[in-house]
Amino acid sequence: MVKLPAPKFTDASIEVCIRNRRSIRNFKSKDLSLQEISNLLWAAQGITEKKYGFRSAPSAGATYPLIIFIAKSDGLFQYIPETHSLKIKSHNDLRPDIAEAALNQNFIKDAGMVMVITAIFERTTARYGKRGIRYVHNEVGHCAQNIHLEAVALGLGSVPIGAFDDQMLKELLGLSQEDPLYIIPVGYPE
Ligand SMILES: Cc1cc2nc3c(=O)[nH]c(=O)nc-3n(C[C@H](O)[C@H](O)[C@H](O)COP(=O)(O)O)c2cc1C
Repeated sequence: MVKLPAPKFTDASIEVCIRNRRSIRNFKSKDLSLQEISNLLWAAQGITEKKYGFRSAPSAGATYPLIIFIAKSDGLFQYIPETHSLKIKSHNDLRPDIAEAALNQNFIKDAGMVMVITAIFERTTARYGKRGIRYVHNEVGHCAQNIHLEAVALGLGSVPIGAFDDQMLKELLGLSQEDPLYIIPVGYPE
């Protein structure tokens, strides 16, 4: 387990972040700091209300189907919102393999951190049936946008990646129940 520092709030305005957000595909090959990783994961799925465990992004019926993995130079990790920490899954740098699974979008391997947003659909469909599938798709958009705007607030760049081979990515990350929905490389713009 790697305990993340508490998120440190910037004074960037939400309007400036919305205006300045662009999909960035050229990254310096430089690691992100643990503070930057903390802020990005907190924005994505951090717990912002302790009593009920509500998170930074809304969730249908608070069923919280999303699970985030991050790939960086020192390995693959799963974000654990309850403890704001990282659980180590692999010591290998999987970014080049993720780039390959994303139909050879090679810029992905240069990003300091590659986030993969996955979902356990059953958590939401157990309550809402077939409509739960739509809710999970809605929710991943909320989560991804929080990441993109936080990246701007930190002076970083990001891009949402929807084009990838689902099965290849699942095998690479060792996923069983979780289905990958988005890859988001985040890094220092070139
Ligand atoms: C669902 C979705 C999937 C996307 N997939 C990719 C992708 O696989 N590769 C990529 O480089 N950009 C991808 N993009 C980013 C778009 O190309 C980008 O948002 C668009 O060109 C508008 O530019 P902007 O994000 O700078 O406003 C995707 C965007 C969305 C919303």
